[in-house]
Amino acid sequence: MNPSPSTHETSETPVLRVGLLGAGTVGSQVARVLLTQADELAQRTGVRLELSGIAVRDVTAPRDVELPRELLTTDADAVIDAADVVVELTGGIEPTRTRVLRALNAGTSVITGNKALLAESGRELHDAAAASGAQLSYEAAVAGAIPIVRPMRDSLAGDSVNRFLGIMNGTTNFILDQMDSTGAAFDDALAQAQELGYAEADPTADVEGHDAAAKTAVLASLAFHSSYTIADVHCEGITGVTAEDVAAAKEAGYVIKLLSVGERCGDGVNLRVQPVMIPREHVLGGVRGAYNAVFVEAENAGSLMFYGQGAGGDPTASAVLGDLVSAARAIALGARGIPLEPYAALPAVSMDDVTTRLSVTLAVNDRLGVLARLAQVFADHGVSISTMQQSEDPRVNETSLLRLVTHTGRHASLVATVDALRELPVVRDIVSVTPVEAGE
Ligand code: NDP
Ligand code: HSE
Repeated sequence: MNPSPSTHETSETPVLRVGLLGAGTVGSQVARVLLTQADELAQRTGVRLELSGIAVRDVTAPRDVELPRELLTTDADAVIDAADVVVELTGGIEPTRTRVLRALNAGTSVITGNKALLAESGRELHDAAAASGAQLSYEAAVAGAIPIVRPMRDSLAGDSVNRFLGIMNGTTNFILDQMDSTGAAFDDALAQAQELGYAEADPTADVEGHDAAAKTAVLASLAFHSSYTIADVHCEGITGVTAEDVAAAKEAGYVIKLLSVGERCGDGVNLRVQPVMIPREHVLGGVRGAYNAVFVEAENAGSLMFYGQGAGGDPTASAVLGDLVSAARAIALGARGIPLEPYAALPAVSMDDVTTRLSVTLAVNDRLGVLARLAQVFADHGVSISTMQQSEDPRVNETSLLRLVTHTGRHASLVATVDALRELPVVRDIVSVTPVEAGE
C-alpha cells in the first residue's frame, strides 16, 4: 500500500533518519513498513521517517523482504552515528549493549525489542537516556504485539499495581497447549513447535523459562517503580512437565501454563516464572497456541486483561513501529525523553515468603495406615490438604498414586512438607510437584 501524499506534508516536512540494527524476523518487517508506508507514517508523525541504514552481520544473506542494497552494511556504528533515532533488533547482550549506549550517550533515542539486554542492563540504559535526554522505548520486548509496556508505564502510572500474571512466551504456551489438547509428550510437542517455526533451533531460552523471566523483570520494573534484573526472578522451565502431569491436571479441571508472576509480597515484590496449574475457567486458562496474555490487578483500575500475539515478525514490528511513531512525534516537538525513576526500590523477595498452593503426586505403598502417616506430616508443617485423589499406580504393583492439592500456605512450609514426605519409608516416589494458581 502506498497512500497518496499527505495534504499536510510539504517539501518542508522534516526528515527523521532511522538507523536499523538487524534485519531478521522482526527487523525486516519494520523495514518493509518504513519503505512502503512512508507517506502514511509522515501524516501521522509530521516528520518523514527515512530508513538511513541497516546494520546486519552478512549483507549478502537472503532476506524475507527486499531491502535496498545500498542501505545494508556491517558497520553498525556508522548506522548509529548517522541516525536521529535507532531501532535495535539484533538481540543479545554484546555488542548490542555497547551500541545502544553509544546511541543514547549521543542523545539519540533508541527503540528496542531486546528483553535479554533490558533484563540485564536496563538501569544502565535508562540512566544513559535520562542523562542525554534521549528516549528509550521497548514495547516489543514484552509480549510482542500486545500493548503492555506503555499501559504499565503510562496508563497505570497514577494507580498502584498489586500483581500481574502473564503467559509471556509463545513457544512454551504452544508446547503446553499441544500436550493438553493432544496428549503429546514434551519432546514431540517441542519438535512440532520447531517445525512450525515458533521455537528456535536452540529453544533453551524459551523452554527453560529464561525468555519469560527476562520479560518478567522488565515488566515488574515498570509495574513496581523499581529496578529488577533477570537474577531477581525465580525461574523454572517446562522441560520437566510430563504428559502424565498435563493429563492429571486436565482430569482435575486444570491446565498447566508457564506463568510469569510479579506480585507485592510483604515489604517487597516476588517475581517468578514457573509451570503452574491454572483452573481451566481462569481468564489465562483459555489462552491457546502461541498466544500471550497478561492479567493485571491494580488498586483502582481493578482487573485488566491484555491478549494477543506475543511473537512473530509482523506482530512484533507493529509494537516497534508504535514506539517509533511515538518517538518521532516527541522528537518533532523537541521533547526530552521521560526519565523513569525506580524510586520505590521494592526489594525482590525470595520464594520462601510467597503464599501459594501445591499439587503433589506421590507413589506410596498401598498399605493400612499410609494415609494417616502422610496426613500427620502435613499437619506437623501446618499445611492443610484441600483435595486428595487415589488411584492404582499402573507402573508398580501394590503401589497407589496419591494426588493431593493443598490449601494456601507459606511456600517454605509447603517445600518442607514435600521434603519430609520424601523421607517417609512408605513414600516410594514424589512423582510431581506443581504450584496451583487460584483466583479469577
Ligand atoms: P533474528 O535472529 O531473526 O535477526 C537478528 C538480526 O540481527 C539479523 O538480521 C542479523 O544479521 C542481525 N545481527 C545479529 N547480530 C548482529 C551483529 N553483531 N551486528 C550486526 N547485525 C547483527 O532476530 P529477531 O528478529 O527474531 O529478534 C530481534 C530482537 O527482537 C531480539 O532482541 C528478540 O528478542 C526481539 N523479539 C523478537 C520476537 C520474535 O518473535 N522474533 C518477538 C519479540 C521480541 P544477519 O541477518 O546478517 O544474520
Ligand atoms: N521466543 C519468544 C516466544 C519470542 O516464544 O514468545 C518472543 O519474545
